[in-house]
Amino acid sequence: MLRHTRRRLADHLRPALLSAAALSALAVSAGAAPASAAEVVVYCSVNEDWCREAVTSFERQTGIKVLMTRKSSGEVYAQLRAEKDNPKADVWFGGSGDPHLQAAEEGLTEKYQSTKLEDLYPWAVKQAEVSGYRTVGIYMGALGFGYNKDLLAQRKLTPPACWSDLVKKDFADEIQVADPNSSGTAYTMLATMVQLMGEDAAFDYLKKLHRNVNQYTKSGAAPAKAAAQGETMTAIAFQHDLLVEAKAGAPVAIVAPCEGTGYEIGSMSLVKGARNPETAKAFYEWALTPDAQALGAKARNYQIPSNSGAAIPPESPRVDKMKLIAYDFARYGSSAERTRLLAKWDRDVKSMSR
Ligand code: F6P
Repeated sequence: MLRHTRRRLADHLRPALLSAAALSALAVSAGAAPASAAEVVVYCSVNEDWCREAVTSFERQTGIKVLMTRKSSGEVYAQLRAEKDNPKADVWFGGSGDPHLQAAEEGLTEKYQSTKLEDLYPWAVKQAEVSGYRTVGIYMGALGFGYNKDLLAQRKLTPPACWSDLVKKDFADEIQVADPNSSGTAYTMLATMVQLMGEDAAFDYLKKLHRNVNQYTKSGAAPAKAAAQGETMTAIAFQHDLLVEAKAGAPVAIVAPCEGTGYEIGSMSLVKGARNPETAKAFYEWALTPDAQALGAKARNYQIPSNSGAAIPPESPRVDKMKLIAYDFARYGSSAERTRLLAKWDRDVKSMSR
């Protein structure tokens, strides 16, 4: 049985994909338990189709079973916090970086320094350094908004090009965005406004925007889907999520706002006190390889991968052509700042009548 287990793992593991350390760690864990126990529990915060692609591919290559749950970034952070004394997950894969940084600061995630850090772009490595190596960047993407071209034409409106356009009366009840408590996308927007405008002006803006919002969704990509289906004219979302809808044929135009915009360093963390630490590391190492990072594009997700050896999907929104702010991840991913801004948004914005 043991021999079979080892052979099965060795047959399936690609040395090019997994480090020697991960391989030997897996052999040890395989020696300690039957094959059916080789599993890893992943909380996944990228789009469902990418989560599934990653699960299928990792299982096929390693023989390790993946138990995956898809949840938004803020939700996973809250769940890890709730499960702190009895962790149920091993790896948190994807989701915007700020809640990963907060989890790192609060000791919810494990310190780990992959040898693959040297293959990653500086922005991904910086995310690891800022967290004391308790998280790492796996992709990046810029925030923006999109609108349904058909609905805009029916209403004979001028296409919005700037954040300032979204608070005009023309867009009353026509804007959808997620709730920053559950969604990393929406927290990126909140922190972006504070950095672009200064805190007082940002909250004035968010209060005006609130009057135009028809719904705060749980997940960050949901407004992009709603705009694609004509359920809302305008959606604030990551540009790559709007692109998913445009590429699928929806009449969605994507805007990089004229004032400038923020961005995310999509991240990955190992859960502190995980039940399956060795398979968790195997998944983590695998997820940093160029082949694993190519799965995003295969599942029609267009973020920029963090491994410099992974191809950037040609469709990816061109961040080099946008005015990106110098997003201060250390500050806006800190526990105190994220908690304070979310509480202020709940109190001063969400509770306002519309
Ligand atoms: O996979 C799509 C995506 O926008 C990621 O780029 C991002 O990290 C994540 O979803 C954010 O999701 P949410 O806003 O639901 O936390």
